[in-house]
Amino acid sequence: MNRKPFIAGNWKMNMTAASGKKLIEELKPLVENADCDVALCVPAILIPEMVKTAAGSNIKIGAENVHWAKSGAYTGEISADMLKEYGVEYAIIGHSERRQYFGETDESVNKRTLTALEAGITPIVCIGETLEERETDKTNEVLYRQLKTGLANVDDVTKVVIAYEPVWAIGTGRTATDAQAQETIAFIRKTIGELFCPKCAEKIVIQYGGSMNAGNCKGLMAQPDIDGGLIGGASLKTDFAAIVNYNK
Ligand code: PGA
Repeated sequence: MNRKPFIAGNWKMNMTAASGKKLIEELKPLVENADCDVALCVPAILIPEMVKTAAGSNIKIGAENVHWAKSGAYTGEISADMLKEYGVEYAIIGHSERRQYFGETDESVNKRTLTALEAGITPIVCIGETLEERETDKTNEVLYRQLKTGLANVDDVTKVVIAYEPVWAIGTGRTATDAQAQETIAFIRKTIGELFCPKCAEKIVIQYGGSMNAGNCKGLMAQPDIDGGLIGGASLKTDFAAIVNYNK
């Protein structure tokens, strides 16, 4: 197994240019010896300033969304070209908050993913079940549908990062247990093998997300199928560095 671990932050609608700059300056020396890839996905308006602040460090800046069209009448949206102009390398797609509050569907996730890949931006495609779906044994069915539709027509699925984020674990302080996260991510990997190819399944990077923090990251990262984390709340503080350095 030669998958490089990948820890990414998701600032959501938090931070300002001033507080973001300060945090990145503090993080830079703390994460410089990381053995994993490191990214912070930030609100679109902060991207230029955060790219400048992170320049020369091992912290890459990502976006929290990207539109599928090249340009046009899509008020409030951001295109892949706009992101590329600033050297953005990653974009979160289909986060459960986008699905819940902004009408994101597996179909729109698919369109955004295809556009990101075409632009050379690595999509971090979020999937995950709600509490009700888990409690009624629908987890695998939901994840299968999200993967099949969300990744339809993707040529090289190994260029995608998948973030498995159980909706019930996001921002709730209720993390999936190591075993639950491992079992579900193993299912996701197996599904990628079926939908694409067994080699793709071995290569694709799959993160866990949902109340991952400095305390529980070691146990999660020790699981054979968990290759990283998508970190919300804990990426707004220098705690993020402790997660990046989970193996130190
Ligand atoms: P959390 O968020 O770490 O605050 O639970 C994770 C996410 O939504 O990506």
